[in-house]
Amino acid sequence: MTRKLFVTTALPYANGNFHIGHIMEYIQADIWVRFQRMQGAEVHFVGADDAHGAPIMIAAEKAGKTPQEFVASIAAGRKQYLDGFHISFDNWHSTDSPENTELAQGIYRALRRNGLISSRNIEQFFDPVKEMFLPDRYIKGECPKCAAKDQYGDSCEVCGAVYTPTDLKNPYSTLTGATPVMKTSEHYFFQLSSQRCIDFLQQWTQDGKLQPEVANKIKEWFTTDEAGAGGLSDWDISRDAPYFGIEIPDAPGKYFYVWLDAPVGYLASLKNYFDKGGPKARYNEARSFDEFIADPHVEQYHFIGKDITYFHTLFWPAMLQFSGRKVPNNVFVHGFITVSGEKMSKSRGTGIDPLKYLSLGMNAEWLRYYIAAKLNAKVEDVDFNPEDFVARVNADLVGKYVNIASRAAGFVSKRFGGELTAALSADGEQLLGGLRAGADEVQRLYEEREFGKALREIMLLADRVNEYVDQNKPWELAKQQGMDTRLHDVCSVCIEAFRLLTIYLKPVLPALAANVEAFLKVGPLTFTDAQRPLGAHAIGAYQHLLQRVDPKQLDALFEAPAAADTAPATASLPGGEEIAPTIGIEDFAKVDLRIAKIINCEYVEGSDKLLRLTLDAGEGQTRNVFSGIKSAYKPEDLIGKLTVMVANLAPRKMKFGLSEGMVLAASHTDEQAHPGVFVLEPWPGAEPGMRVR
Ligand code: MSP
Ligand code: ZN
Repeated sequence: MTRKLFVTTALPYANGNFHIGHIMEYIQADIWVRFQRMQGAEVHFVGADDAHGAPIMIAAEKAGKTPQEFVASIAAGRKQYLDGFHISFDNWHSTDSPENTELAQGIYRALRRNGLISSRNIEQFFDPVKEMFLPDRYIKGECPKCAAKDQYGDSCEVCGAVYTPTDLKNPYSTLTGATPVMKTSEHYFFQLSSQRCIDFLQQWTQDGKLQPEVANKIKEWFTTDEAGAGGLSDWDISRDAPYFGIEIPDAPGKYFYVWLDAPVGYLASLKNYFDKGGPKARYNEARSFDEFIADPHVEQYHFIGKDITYFHTLFWPAMLQFSGRKVPNNVFVHGFITVSGEKMSKSRGTGIDPLKYLSLGMNAEWLRYYIAAKLNAKVEDVDFNPEDFVARVNADLVGKYVNIASRAAGFVSKRFGGELTAALSADGEQLLGGLRAGADEVQRLYEEREFGKALREIMLLADRVNEYVDQNKPWELAKQQGMDTRLHDVCSVCIEAFRLLTIYLKPVLPALAANVEAFLKVGPLTFTDAQRPLGAHAIGAYQHLLQRVDPKQLDALFEAPAAADTAPATASLPGGEEIAPTIGIEDFAKVDLRIAKIINCEYVEGSDKLLRLTLDAGEGQTRNVFSGIKSAYKPEDLIGKLTVMVANLAPRKMKFGLSEGMVLAASHTDEQAHPGVFVLEPWPGAEPGMRVR
């Protein structure tokens, strides 16, 4: 019976371009998917942008866009990466979509009917200026243990203490600098700690399907200590407005926490694909999304990185199970990619810029081959090492595999009119028999996601072919009288061997395999073709299939980028951001800008960003204003100078005191690439108190 597979990769946050970690995950999943398609399976491979949540809402605001505009601009950049690295998604969608709203709300309602949703009041930090509850990452303060300043709400980078945001001394909002206040609000919970959930998850996670190290990690999450601490707790699934997300039914002003609707996005993308008729066109799949996804015969697999295991092996299966839906057949967890042993930062994605890789003319299939060679079924990190990369691609891929074709094909065209012979002698048949016998093991290894082992196996087979070539030396046979039959035989064996190796490598090297198919004049190769010899068959003219890596390309790849290309998404925008929406003069008039004289300026103890300014705007009294310009100016540079101040901005209570205005300064959104903050100064003649209009 045909296997029917629903396969996903994690949905990337729509707040930045893809980095090499994303590409590695897509390559891993894509190899597995292509392998399954070659086996004749019906595969539906989908992805989507993870659009919701507070960080994206805030990033959009900073960029002067609506969240929808912001995520659309990120989505527009996806295709060039996916096409560039031959990632064969059948559909790409978004969690900010009607399908996802309907599915997420439906799942929630089902969980509620099932008695697994509760609500209670919780106290949380609230930013009184921004009028929003603050996610932990937007709160900083002093460490309760060692009093180090500017520490995040979960742990101290100085002494390593772990705590909750409410433990911080002198907390402040990183959004506004305001002191957060405690505020109560009703939150909704998914009762993961209920016996029903625990029983189900014990079974689902410990029945042997998960990778052993994943199952073991989960066991720890289940365990409670003697004091009863630890174990699964209920999951807070609601957030208060303002929030970019999906509204919770019957709960005005409440939204689903992004991690509730994110995995539902897998289903939303699949539904969108079905509604567009994709599966019907591709596999003549006649059923609707609802029918398809209810079929117990359909297998559902998620490829993810190790950092999001909790969400995918506990929350997600439980959500599906208790809303009466099909649960995943498995979750495949991979490690992280490091570059020359160094971790890359998740947000900045330094290391290797995938677009730069492509724009340097580096072949996507080099990277696919290299990553595949390093991957196994474990949750191990994968290191990209430049020397190793050059060696593996040049010595193995080109040296051992591609060269087989280039050494035999010329003689076939020149001497035998492009015709292969079916009359092979025993040594050739024996070699090919050995290669064909390897197919089972190679398939098993692909199925098990042991790609590194599969490639080693294939390269051992290629070694045998190269030994055969070296023993028979077609280039010498070609010079000898009366050896035509033997030359024809040997070259036909080589081409057949090359065809077999191409089948085995095709999941990893899809574009190269397509070129080989054209060269050999054969249809799309599958594993069953391994057992069907080409025989007497006319092939096309050989054209070089793959270049070697030039180590200089790697130097260029790792060269520090010129300032302008560090931010490809924003490089073309003035100052790194779009011009804000048009306003009328009456809107502008609301902002009261005044010339102010900097009477005094000093450092702020405990702040590495702020200077404290004393400003005279001709009001008969001075104002105290904090400004984030410490990186650019020394206090003595500013004292006595004139500048421009927003005079009617609501005073803000900051950690260091009240700020009674704002000084105007210019900066680029990408401070890394375009460093500097520049305070505005009027032309000579302006006086304190004059209005700027
Ligand atoms: N939006 C969530 C996932 C929601 S899934 C319903 C998210 N997004 S992410 O953009 O941060 O990460 C997407 C995927 O990339 C995750 O599987 C993550 O583990 C993976 N990787 C992020 N950095 C990585 C490396 N350095 N190496 C390999 N994969 C990495 O998490
Ligand atoms: Zn500390």
